[in-house]
Amino acid sequence: MVSTPTTVAASGRQYLPVSTDNPASPNQSLLPLTAGVNRQDHLEIGGCDVVELVQRFGTPLYVLDEETLRTACRQYRQAFQQYYPGESLVIYASKAWNCLAVCAIVASEGLGIDVVSGGELYTALQAGMSAETMYFHGNNKSVEELTMAIETGCTIVVDNWLELQTLVGLAAEQPIRIMLRLTPGIECHTHEYIRTGHLDSKFGFDPVQLDRVFEFVSQHPQLDCVGLHAHIGSQIFELQAHQDLTGVMVQWLGKAAHYGLSIRELDIGGGLGIRYTESDDPPSIAAWAKVICEGIVTACQSQNLALPKLIAEPGRSLIGPACVTAYKIGNQKEVPGIRTYVTVDGGMSDNPRPITYQSVYRSVIANRMSAPLTQTVSVAGKHCESGDIVIKQADLPATEAGDVLVVMTTGAYNYSMASNYNRLPRPAAVLVNQGEASLILQRETYLDLVRQDCLPERLKSHG
Ligand code: LLP
Repeated sequence: MVSTPTTVAASGRQYLPVSTDNPASPNQSLLPLTAGVNRQDHLEIGGCDVVELVQRFGTPLYVLDEETLRTACRQYRQAFQQYYPGESLVIYASKAWNCLAVCAIVASEGLGIDVVSGGELYTALQAGMSAETMYFHGNNKSVEELTMAIETGCTIVVDNWLELQTLVGLAAEQPIRIMLRLTPGIECHTHEYIRTGHLDSKFGFDPVQLDRVFEFVSQHPQLDCVGLHAHIGSQIFELQAHQDLTGVMVQWLGKAAHYGLSIRELDIGGGLGIRYTESDDPPSIAAWAKVICEGIVTACQSQNLALPKLIAEPGRSLIGPACVTAYKIGNQKEVPGIRTYVTVDGGMSDNPRPITYQSVYRSVIANRMSAPLTQTVSVAGKHCESGDIVIKQADLPATEAGDVLVVMTTGAYNYSMASNYNRLPRPAAVLVNQGEASLILQRETYLDLVRQDCLPERLKSHG
């Protein structure tokens, strides 16, 4: 380790950030909090040399830093405890990265979980998470998924009329614990694919239907409506949109009281952005929580309403900054006067975000951290698709085949949206902490790729 420690992680240990910034919270950092450079001039994360990790586990490799994830969990919980005088709960939006180890870590930090499918629910249950802090989302849940959610005892966040009616039909003696998802009609500045709170959204009830929905719920004792939910979008940097949301949600709360509904929970969704490049400047976790807590308290006071239990469901800002993806560099192609392509051994199958949302990432060469940056290249993936560019403009030192290129901030919506395009096996993931690396996702094999294939008998002779 070579520079002065500036970051205190969840364990109380101090770490050196590689970059010169001094983040108040993990979502403001480009690299995991434990990142540093060791005497070999290699990138180190969680006390593990990334070049050694690559030798041991292969590439592409997701490297998840436990300290960064735990620190983000603690900052969320502490901020809500500090700024909200009522009860609060932080639930992890597991669509960002759902697997056994991640669920187990967030649960051990006292967080609940948001799941959006039977598969995510199953994984959370297998990880030992408890149903009381589980919220089941989705705008088209199947009857099987709803049945599974009811049997599990988690709270169902109802999205639409069909779902309300189906639930009434499925209810047995015990009322089903539900929340209602509403579309707040709040615009925010983010990519249009990840905006959800504007009126023209496929998610949630339109607020003009609020009276009808409340009336329906109040007439069906099979449904125990405990809360209201809204989510306005993802990768949001402005606090104003969430502040506006608090006012809108408390108005809904006031309206519910007219229907005799005792709504006790408000779920404000997630959406806090993270730093993918130096020019990204998101508010800290504490600043985000403060605006929301104060907004709810002020609105409740002005309407003379009791404080509800306040729920927030962040995903990206909990796990995004905790992970990097390590690749091996292979082919390099120079197109004179135009650009140089530096190709890595993964791409849109392990990180579909650049091709889907034109997301921008930063990278380093992990085996030569202090080498001067001498070229601007395009980091290309290995897929048969021209758009498979991981980073359009990456400032790097001179590179050669075999170098380890590390892309930062890949914890959120990378593994969870990974595919087998071109039949690439999905990468392995390791959890690093204080010098120990534990495998949390095995690298897929070619056998895994054909495991679900079926070859009809009559085709076998042609094999
Ligand atoms: N709650 C609900 C109901 C959501 O739909 C989402 C994200 C979250 C919470 C968590 O939001 P976060 O804190 O992560 O911003 N695949 C896209 C992001 C899609 C977000 C979907 N919903 C991406 O890679 O940018």
